[in-house]
Amino acid sequence: MMKSFPKLEHGRPALILAPMEGVLDAALRQMYSEFGGLCFAVSEFVRVSSAPLPAKVLLEIVPELRSSESGCETPGGLPVQVQLLGSEPSYVAETALRAVQLGAGAIDLNFGCPSATVNRHGGGAVMLRDPGRICAVAEAVRHAIGPDIALSAKIRLGWQDKKEGKDAASALENAGVDWIVVHARTREQGYTGKPCWESLRQIVEESRVPVVANGDILDLESFRACELATGCAHFMIGRGALADPGLGRRLSGELRLNRADSAYSLPADFDPLQKGNWLPVFQRFSTICAARGARPEYTLRRLKQWLGWLASIHPGTREWVDPIRRTLSLAQALDS
Ligand SMILES: Cc1cc2nc3c(=O)[nH]c(=O)nc-3n(C[C@H](O)[C@H](O)[C@H](O)COP(=O)(O)O)c2cc1C
Repeated sequence: MMKSFPKLEHGRPALILAPMEGVLDAALRQMYSEFGGLCFAVSEFVRVSSAPLPAKVLLEIVPELRSSESGCETPGGLPVQVQLLGSEPSYVAETALRAVQLGAGAIDLNFGCPSATVNRHGGGAVMLRDPGRICAVAEAVRHAIGPDIALSAKIRLGWQDKKEGKDAASALENAGVDWIVVHARTREQGYTGKPCWESLRQIVEESRVPVVANGDILDLESFRACELATGCAHFMIGRGALADPGLGRRLSGELRLNRADSAYSLPADFDPLQKGNWLPVFQRFSTICAARGARPEYTLRRLKQWLGWLASIHPGTREWVDPIRRTLSLAQALDS
């Protein structure tokens, strides 16, 4: 029997693992589902450009779709939402329906990607300037997948103007999305500068559907500041989770999610600055990748990307991270 996806609702808090293309792939999602604390994860974006995508592409980027009897989830049982990025309503809708036929219980639409290449082709954050187009894509997807499959969208505050996010949110609500994730920065900001919680709060106050707060939630302090400033009950973490595997469980404790279950026994006092704490984590990641049939070079590349994000959030780790990032083989990296 297919499990139903844990849809977000007002009054029921949630913590979500962010989509991160090129970093948070199926192996790392499996690892993070073992760390516990999360309600669900969002896949890396699947880009729909010149035609609807075949099942093969969806299964490559979101292999969790293969677990169709139980929905789309990691081996540890964490539900995975499929994220699509595209601007042509009929292509995105047909691909969404295909994902649902393969077992997806929830679809997310990406209207926040800042990549110049993606934006030049009319996808991602550039659509924040055209709420009519956003509405057309979301409406077409809703129509294709029906009322029962969860549908959400991920936006930014705007391209440059922070009012654009409000118009996009209202267009999305009218199109029938179940919730909206807001990365509280503009496209112009990229990933720099501070998230603007005040602008996010305005979207929350005007919105009928749950709004998920996202951007620089890196520890308890930044989480509490975001909660207080936005009034949100739903949160998404990306780089903060990459830099501290215990963050999900700590925040889920704050939110009283009862999701402290963890298949991986992370020490309660895990200090992300200490290399010794990470080595068993990297070993486990390597085992997961090998079991998935990944080549050691692939695992090494992904490990280095993970380490890069760790060092960017905690510069104090550079001293031991940089030498690992210079190693030439996975064995050397894990032995260092
Ligand atoms: C390397 C990288 C890849 C990303 N890929 C995606 C993606 O595929 N889809 C998406 O909606 N957002 C993507 N994002 C944005 C994140 O989901 C998130 O909104 C952003 O990093 C801010 O949250 P954080 O501070 O918790 O990381 C990506 C961000 C980074 C840094």
